[in-house]
Amino acid sequence: MRLVMIGSGYVGLVSGACFADFGHEVVCIDVDEKKVAALKEGKIPIFEPGLDQIVQSNAAAGRLKFTTDLASSVRAADVVFIAVGTPSRRGDGHADLSYVYGAAREIARAVEGFTVVVTKSTVPVGTGDEVERIIRDENPNADVAVVSNPEFLREGAAITDFKRPDRIVIGTEEPRAIEVMRQVYRPLYINESPLLFCERRTSELTKYAANAFLAMKITFINEIADLCEKLGGDVQKVAKGIGLDKRIGDKFLHAGPGYGGSCFPKDTLALVKTAQDADSPMRLIETTVAVNDNRKRAMARKVIAACGGEVRGKTIAILGLTFKPNTDDMREAPSISIIQALIDKGAIVRAYDPEGMEAAETMMPEIEYGQNPYDIARDADAIVLVTEWDEFRALDIGRIKSLMKEPVLVDLRNVYPPQEIIAQGFRHVGIGRQPKSDA
Ligand code: UGA
Repeated sequence: MRLVMIGSGYVGLVSGACFADFGHEVVCIDVDEKKVAALKEGKIPIFEPGLDQIVQSNAAAGRLKFTTDLASSVRAADVVFIAVGTPSRRGDGHADLSYVYGAAREIARAVEGFTVVVTKSTVPVGTGDEVERIIRDENPNADVAVVSNPEFLREGAAITDFKRPDRIVIGTEEPRAIEVMRQVYRPLYINESPLLFCERRTSELTKYAANAFLAMKITFINEIADLCEKLGGDVQKVAKGIGLDKRIGDKFLHAGPGYGGSCFPKDTLALVKTAQDADSPMRLIETTVAVNDNRKRAMARKVIAACGGEVRGKTIAILGLTFKPNTDDMREAPSISIIQALIDKGAIVRAYDPEGMEAAETMMPEIEYGQNPYDIARDADAIVLVTEWDEFRALDIGRIKSLMKEPVLVDLRNVYPPQEIIAQGFRHVGIGRQPKSDA
């Protein structure tokens, strides 16, 4: 099949490359000429494990192409995916749909023959109706079916998530579009990934409901962690104890410094706004958003307390800056609020991250960046593990201690068993557990 991806950002690029890997002919389009030129040379603008290899091999096989020319690609396409950004609109938190609607207008002018137009971008309920209206207004003769097909990819695990999805949600009731979408996802047949066909609005809402539920689940375990700290329980064991109940499930119960990234913060906020406008407020998600926002700065207070209540003039070493491991994405990363709060209190901050330092440097030029964990530990008054990159899981703790001024480890991802750290002579502060309960 001939597929077109409008938008060669994270979603467009991963989806386009994976569809090409399944044997479809894919053209990825972007307005950014520099990005397209780089992609043609095999240079990937984002860090996603495995993506460069899939892009290069499919481009070499001629199945994956990059261009800025939307019109001729759309004219020849069977399916056109809209995978442009939907950032939070400045001021009111609603999703900014101007790129989606702009793409719809351009598609309308270019389509020829029956074409399925699919919104892959995360869009509020009713956006598909508006995309359809725009296309019909712009070109009353266009023979299109507008379908919703949200993505559920996690950064850092996007290729696996695309190729082995838990489910594929497709919102359309148009028989011709149903058949085309079956063909698009036929390569996943062997994996028995369920294809869920539903009405378009249901599909749009499913995406928000999934992200909001996961954000709420993380926030729930984070609040249980706070309670454990007050009452003396161990959140890791509580998470295991509830997670083995199949009705609850063990995923997304890892307590930490709060969720970040380009999806949960934006999508929870957009759902809150949509629900308020529909006069059906979602109090649980409103609270989730507020609790998570507060949590990031609360983590800085934890660090300050671990340093004896005062960080003025002290050096704090930060391990990990990105919002999670295996990405270079700094958007809404808890590290940003934590570092800002520490600087506000007069701390000197030094940081290291395997992939995120380039992006971090533009956002936080005032901090020092090191070459590796040991480099930043030198003369530090505390070391704070913020992102659980694999390379932080087996640090030489003795060496770290010998380099530091004060042996204080604040482990915001519970990577290390407290007793082990304490046995090495550290003061240890984790999330939702006391040293004695881990003994
Ligand atoms: C999320 C969803 O997991 C994807 O299914 C969805 O497609 C994507 O948003 C999207 O809408 O595009 P992503 O933001 O890449 O994916 O990352 P997650 O792995 O979900 O992590 C989000 C945040 O939650 C991170 O800051 C992570 O550290 C935090 N988290 C996650 C926890 O604090 N605890 C957990 O147990 C899990």
